Amino acid sequence: MATTKRTLQCLLSRVCRETRRTYGVLPQPPPHNSSSSSSSSSSQHLINLEYEYSAHNYHPVPIVFSQAKGSSIWDPEGNKYLDFLSAYSAVNQGHCHPRIMKALHDQAQKLTLSSRAFYNDRFPVFAERLTDMFGYDMVLPMNTGAEGVETALKLARKWGYERKKIPNDEAIIISCCGCFHGRTLAVISMSCDNEATKGFGPLLPGHLKVDFGDEVLLEKIFKDQGERIAGFLFEPIQGEAGPTSLFDNGRKVFCTTLGWLMGREKLLLSPLKVVIPPDGYLKAVRDLCSKYNILMIADEIQTGLARTGKMLACDWEQVRPDVVILGKALGGGVIPVSAVLADKDVMLCIRPGEHGSTFGGNPLASAVAIASLDVIKEEGLAERSDRLGQELRHQLLKVQQQFPDIIKEVRGRGLFNAVEFKSKTLSPVSAYDICLKLKDRGVLAKPTHDTIVRLTPPLSMSSDELQEGSKALGEVLELDLPKMKKAKPEKLSSTASTTCDRCGRNLYGSSD
Ligand SMILES: Cc1ncc(COP(=O)(O)O)c(C=O)c1O
Repeated sequence: MATTKRTLQCLLSRVCRETRRTYGVLPQPPPHNSSSSSSSSSSQHLINLEYEYSAHNYHPVPIVFSQAKGSSIWDPEGNKYLDFLSAYSAVNQGHCHPRIMKALHDQAQKLTLSSRAFYNDRFPVFAERLTDMFGYDMVLPMNTGAEGVETALKLARKWGYERKKIPNDEAIIISCCGCFHGRTLAVISMSCDNEATKGFGPLLPGHLKVDFGDEVLLEKIFKDQGERIAGFLFEPIQGEAGPTSLFDNGRKVFCTTLGWLMGREKLLLSPLKVVIPPDGYLKAVRDLCSKYNILMIADEIQTGLARTGKMLACDWEQVRPDVVILGKALGGGVIPVSAVLADKDVMLCIRPGEHGSTFGGNPLASAVAIASLDVIKEEGLAERSDRLGQELRHQLLKVQQQFPDIIKEVRGRGLFNAVEFKSKTLSPVSAYDICLKLKDRGVLAKPTHDTIVRLTPPLSMSSDELQEGSKALGEVLELDLPKMKKAKPEKLSSTASTTCDRCGRNLYGSSD
């Protein structure tokens, strides 16, 4: 008992440490207009304008999108780039897909909004198409991904009280360490990301955390608290905020207090961003959720709709969750559309007046979503993503062989991929710096934390374009990195580890 108390005190002192995450370069005011680049439509002017008049809640790579088609982007100066982010997988079908644009234009001429106070002639068709495609009884339409997650959480709680008979106000949702489900208060209440949570308290109660990929720990929590657990929310592959390391200064670090106290010895998963769980994990989750009468809730907002090489990432293990949340590519990169899918016994727990959204299910979004689904299906984007993903990883592995001291790992499924650098050999350069150089070579990719570059191009990208991405990465490492290392003072290095305030895990440091 004394040991347990000491362990808890130690954990508390660890989690109280003041820590901070950066992306290598802190947001800086852009340089003042120079006379040569200050026309009202120039990139620099637009960046300055945004910096002046918009909240600084992002730290974008300095490129201004002005036009896009397929996988190509043009800035206001007419420079062309290849998109290796796809707006966080919202543009799976490629930018401005003609069929989706036609649906948008046609519908925009006729009817854009009814509100759900009335019926419209597009939403019922969309609802039937979507539920049919994914094999669920019903859909609840929303707009953004975070709204979809909120909806699923409310649905799970309601089901928990009505069907499972959880005592009033005692329902618990279990989520995973390193999860990312959006930015609303309920959603950040499940986050391990200090930047997402610090200064936004009090967070919502009723959440418990478990290590992603660890079915043994999951069953322990289900066994201990199962009567009160309404749902288990997870991403089938963690995209954004997965833990960097399960080790901290050579010592094993666990996400949950429970995991830590249990002294579990198993290495749980690939300890990196774009985290793929061990084979069989999704099946185990399905079995456990059924056994303990807990809703299995898959956040497929990013992994769904063909991104990982299947329509849903859960399809990799032929698992059917009780609730599926979709978003991003459902709107074809055109309009925000999210949706929660479930069967009637779950969905009908929500009744008129209990949940909704003015724009959810609007006819314009519904028409766009129907076209977006048609494109994914008819262009075989899931198979394409699987095939191109293998090509891309093959190319990236060759780059890794060329730079084994710099690239730690290449991983992914379908066109959901990440390149992880070794922090010690990359430092003082960061993944953000690498992305700046990729941009200079015409490739737009996203840094995730200090040492990871995510590569998630539109699923319509050609093999040649794909190759340009890996070629550019090789050139950056060969030609730009040595110069960057020389130019960047050591003190700007930002690869220091950061500890999650909530679970104590080393979040952003690297274990290489
Ligand atoms: C898995 C997952 N869930 C939810 C969200 C939130 O979606 P949105 O930004 O549309 O609110 C995201 C966004 O990146 C996501 O990746």
